[in-house]
Amino acid sequence: MNIYDTYEYDVLVIGSGGAGMRAAVAAQESGAKTVVLSKCLLGKAHTVMAEGGIAAALANVDAKDGWQPHFKDTMFGGKYVNDWRMAVIHAKESPEAVRELERWGAIFDRTKDGRILQRAFGGHTHPRLCHVGDRTGLEMIRALQDRTVALGVEVFTECIVTQLLMDQGAIAGAFGFFKSTGKMFVFRAKAVIISTGGIGKIWRVTSNSWDCTGDGQALAYNAGAELKDMEFVQFHPTGMVWPPGVKGLLVTEAVRGEGGLLKNKFGERFMSKYDPKRMELSTRDMVARSINQEIVEGRGSEHGGVYLDISHKPAAYVKSKLPSMYQQFMEFADIDITKQPMEVGPTCHYTMGGVKVDPETQESTVKGLFAAGEAAAGLHGGNRLGGNSLSDLLVFGKRAGISAAAYVKKTNNLLSVDPVKIAQYQKDLVVAFDRPGKETPAAVHRDLQEVMEANVGIIRHADRLNKALEALKDLNERYKHIHVDGGIGYNFGWHLYLSLASMLSVAEIVTRAALERKESRSAQTREDFPKMDSEWRKKSLIVKKVNGAVQITTELLPAMPEELRQLLGDEAK
Ligand code: FUM
Repeated sequence: MNIYDTYEYDVLVIGSGGAGMRAAVAAQESGAKTVVLSKCLLGKAHTVMAEGGIAAALANVDAKDGWQPHFKDTMFGGKYVNDWRMAVIHAKESPEAVRELERWGAIFDRTKDGRILQRAFGGHTHPRLCHVGDRTGLEMIRALQDRTVALGVEVFTECIVTQLLMDQGAIAGAFGFFKSTGKMFVFRAKAVIISTGGIGKIWRVTSNSWDCTGDGQALAYNAGAELKDMEFVQFHPTGMVWPPGVKGLLVTEAVRGEGGLLKNKFGERFMSKYDPKRMELSTRDMVARSINQEIVEGRGSEHGGVYLDISHKPAAYVKSKLPSMYQQFMEFADIDITKQPMEVGPTCHYTMGGVKVDPETQESTVKGLFAAGEAAAGLHGGNRLGGNSLSDLLVFGKRAGISAAAYVKKTNNLLSVDPVKIAQYQKDLVVAFDRPGKETPAAVHRDLQEVMEANVGIIRHADRLNKALEALKDLNERYKHIHVDGGIGYNFGWHLYLSLASMLSVAEIVTRAALERKESRSAQTREDFPKMDSEWRKKSLIVKKVNGAVQITTELLPAMPEELRQLLGDEAK
């Protein structure tokens, strides 16, 4: 059996996107010896794909903005099943989180009088998104990365974690391997923070990067942590639809924020039928459903999307505000967006659900296990507003880091890791090399994506969800017969095989939760339950692994103080 390397830290952060790095900075600054394990190279995490901006009520462009309107918009966007306590913290702490990032070197676009510029975005009542053209995530990661490295946080890149290690019901570390060599490792740690991002690679059409395979959600679930809101998966209204090789690639909402218009093949601004007040800047669930409706009813574009047009704006304006979009369409589709409309359609983008966490500390229901960013649940309820993910990961990444360091101070020694279990994990890791079998990881992944695309998409129905569960059974069976060829160094097929374990398990969780929520609310649209149900407004769906199977229960949402309820108005009742 392969010998593994052992490392020892106070806080282990799994994931090197914005949430992970912000958490690592906070933990290290709080005196904990901190390490980051990254599945990709540093600076390549999916956060770099966030384009349009960070939502924070700085009120630089509209003095009427403040934490209350931001809180109200976030709750309205999530159709009131958000954890209101997280929504308050988020709205209050986002402005300082942005200023802090600026102090660490992030350079934002400016207003004429030199303040951070803010743009309009769907569902936000005031221009609220602090941005760097349409490359905000990239700038954010650059600044966070500098800060992480400057503080001396250790970072291991290109490694995959396959197991969380437990002792006496608490977290003891993690097991996995380095992609380049296949060398296995055990990281012993007093606290672990999951910040692994989303699950989008379970669907065929997605804006998500290769690494968004639900690893963190699956690791936490397998370790006994509760997950929440997993049925709420966001389909961003505008991904590229053509050419096929880039189908799903994000077309930032900033195009609409800067004045882009959505039109069907007859040139009609169809949003006037669906949300005449907000039009193109309605919430994402509404815009995605509207686009879907136009396509289904035969008013779509040549390649099965709709048109997004910003060519009425001056070319220099478009190029300066949306440089990446200009380049993306020019290079991939041979379209000059200053002259021609883009073709766009919905793309799987974000999961509002994730690891259930305490709203203040981000600790999960497993002792010593924390989560932040997309991997955690609560803030966004049934649907996230654009730009709230970047502020989410700054605000709650910081809180997770501080809380993990505080937890470490109360904990005496590293917990023990069980050598018998490690030996089993080692065997499990390489089992697919040795067994005969005709299945390949690529074929099972492709079929999983088709199943989810066809049955667990924007519009859901019990018949299709049940069909997906049947198909998932079959895929799980096929998974056991996958054979992996080649060696253990940089073997993409092997990595996909291991990620498939997470994807299959998260796909089942999402599907079961979607079946259980018998109503239509924000990102969950059920043809067979088309109405929003006030009973479902009061509770969350909680998922836990019990005797190896998915157990779903409901939990009442926390009671909201009267002054906040008044702020939200009658609709929230
Ligand atoms: O459309 C966008 O730029 C995406 C932003 C977000 O998901 O927050």
